[in-house]
Amino acid sequence: MTAENFIPKKYPNSVENGSYTWTSPSNIALVKYWGKKANQIPENPSISFTLNNCKTTTTLSFSKKESDNYFSFEVFLDGEKKDDFKPKIETFFNRVEIYLPFLKSYHFKIETSNTFPHSSGIASSASGMSALALCLMSVEKKLINDVSEENFIQKASFLARLGSGSACRSLEGDLVVWGKHDKIDGSSDLFGVKYPFEVHKNFKNYQDTILLVDKGEKQVSSTVGHNLMHGHPFAQERFNQAEKNLSDIILILKNGDLDKFIALVESEALTLHSMMMTSMPYFILMKPNTLEIINKIWAYRNSTGSKVCFTLDAGANVHVLYPENEAAQVLEFIQNELVTFCQKGEYINDKIGFGAKLL
Ligand code: PMV
Repeated sequence: MTAENFIPKKYPNSVENGSYTWTSPSNIALVKYWGKKANQIPENPSISFTLNNCKTTTTLSFSKKESDNYFSFEVFLDGEKKDDFKPKIETFFNRVEIYLPFLKSYHFKIETSNTFPHSSGIASSASGMSALALCLMSVEKKLINDVSEENFIQKASFLARLGSGSACRSLEGDLVVWGKHDKIDGSSDLFGVKYPFEVHKNFKNYQDTILLVDKGEKQVSSTVGHNLMHGHPFAQERFNQAEKNLSDIILILKNGDLDKFIALVESEALTLHSMMMTSMPYFILMKPNTLEIINKIWAYRNSTGSKVCFTLDAGANVHVLYPENEAAQVLEFIQNELVTFCQKGEYINDKIGFGAKLL
């Protein structure tokens, strides 16, 4: 499969106008993607849990326009016009136009809303870009007719990737792999695929409570962060490590080995942050409260034997991961000991989910 496979032949149908609404979740990587080549190709494969509650809902309304030599669209967040979102979408349209040649033939109204607060420090790019890519695929489906479900999702993931790399892992659940890996048949640098192997019941309905330590804008955009991996002295070792961690997690997921899962996932999170600490320029994206939370989790685990662990995005917020059978105790621990380190005491309870839906 190459990118050229996603360039459509001439569209047989003509459509004047319409509207589609998709809801698509965020995801949290267990083995992280950090570093990319040209055209949003990842330097290493990654795997993520699809989330259930942190979602973006996007309605795309479209109507045929006279001229087809420019993009025409408007964007609304929670009913409010958002011209500052336009450059990102214009860049996305430019990247995907070759794969969606109808883009300049329509005026689009993009109405979007998130279940999580915009200023929560939770990136909406994965859920937002995947929802938009799915809406655009629904338009294309109308122009073509006979698109199989598999091809539809695959191309939507391919397009979402061009919007924001990790967005390609948000369309399906409950575990998604993105990036070519020898042990995972069908895996691709171009799109995410459902994790194809057996997963132990220990991981069923796995819980993720997101502790909002810092609700501000990201200190380092992911574009800048990924670029810092070019010429990074430890980059190649890191990419090799991610390959190995993805191999290792296959057995861990099969056997339900929670201790090994914890070690791998926490090491991945800290490695991601250490890559940022050791790049030039260098950044510390954790806050003092991030470390307080990590230490509390470790102490709680030592004293109780709990299987709770943490992972991090490229920011200060902490994802607290734990098996469903510990939900009551861990939530009590979070409320008693961790919420105090959250900005305004805010956190979001989420869990593994099953991907995007057409509404
Ligand atoms: O999709 P991007 O370009 O925002 O990169 C996201 C990278 C991490 O969230 C830090 C890791 C990952 O694999 O999701």
